[in-house]
Amino acid sequence: MKSISGTLVFVIICTLFTNCNNSSEKNKMAAAKDAISKKDWGEVDGKKIYLYTLENNNGTTMTITNYGGTVTSFVTQDKNGNKSSIIIGFDSLQPYLQHPPYFGALIGRYGNRIGNAKFTLDGTTYKLAANDGKNHLHGGLKGFDKVVWDATIPNDSVPSLTLKYLSKDGEEGYPGNLNVTVQYTLNNDDGLEIEYNAETDKATPVNLTNHSYFNLTGDVSNTILNHTLMIDADHYTPVDTTLIPTGEIKPVKGTPFDFTTAKKIGQDIDAVKGGYDHNWVLNKKDTSLQKVAELSDSISGRTLEVYTTQPGLQFYTGNFLDGKFVNRGGKPLQVHTALCLETQHFPDSPNKPNFPTTILKPGEKYHAVTIYKVKLNKS
Ligand code: BGC
Repeated sequence: MKSISGTLVFVIICTLFTNCNNSSEKNKMAAAKDAISKKDWGEVDGKKIYLYTLENNNGTTMTITNYGGTVTSFVTQDKNGNKSSIIIGFDSLQPYLQHPPYFGALIGRYGNRIGNAKFTLDGTTYKLAANDGKNHLHGGLKGFDKVVWDATIPNDSVPSLTLKYLSKDGEEGYPGNLNVTVQYTLNNDDGLEIEYNAETDKATPVNLTNHSYFNLTGDVSNTILNHTLMIDADHYTPVDTTLIPTGEIKPVKGTPFDFTTAKKIGQDIDAVKGGYDHNWVLNKKDTSLQKVAELSDSISGRTLEVYTTQPGLQFYTGNFLDGKFVNRGGKPLQVHTALCLETQHFPDSPNKPNFPTTILKPGEKYHAVTIYKVKLNKS
């Protein structure tokens, strides 16, 4: 009898505890949903465009639109308590329709370049759009940055947004129907998390990334040349004059490409014709999520840590920004006023058998995660 009543008490306590846990989980989810707002932003291809604002417990916010799956801002505090966006972008849809160079956008089906806009797979040669001289760049004429994604707000305990897109067989010349899901999350450590998933019904190259341009000062009248950068990579992939990798994997030691110890971006940039626009071969040896780069700026006290599951990082110093586009707040985006740290597989992998493969086959699951995490140094 004693043991039966003991069991009963145990069961009641457990039930109460589970209910409590469940309801606190539910409360967290409700709070996370409340931390997301949505506003009308226009229409493209007959589909509604929205701007979603995600806010975490620290009051950090990020805005995302389903046009191109674009991150339009990431607003964090600086060391003086002032808030500004460390990602460049616009406060309305119109300038995005003028095709800025991929500001904040999701990139696919293939991030960066494919040489001569073609590749051969299983004996068939596929021709892609040559939208960068004779080469193919960032998925073609209408890449994932220019399509309308289906957005939903998932039941999650932190603010998140799920974006889906079906890239049809033959789109931009690629084989196979590719179902892509990207989840953006703003966690309570001020980390902007991006999780990519994809499946195909025919073998196809896939290389998804995000093309956010950062300026940690939050003010594009400062260039990024005084930011310091560390990249955990002993090697990089040199390129030809059209920015296609030569196929070599060269050591960074003794070259301007050595960021193994943090240094100012401006320190050696003049020794690199045109500025940095290269793929670094990350030292990480597997697909686990690891810290691969750290960017810091003393004006704002902000540091950006980059974590990824990917093998490569395209570090691009905004070399082609020429003042044509004007950032929110009215300041023109001139050369080197923002930089990209695009986590990826190596450019032109479909034509470089010695690079890690980017071919996704039917039945396989493409999965990649990247986190851009902001920290503050108040001293
Ligand atoms: C490429 C650059 C290109 C830029 C904007 C970067 O990922 O590496 O060469 O100019 O994107 O298109």
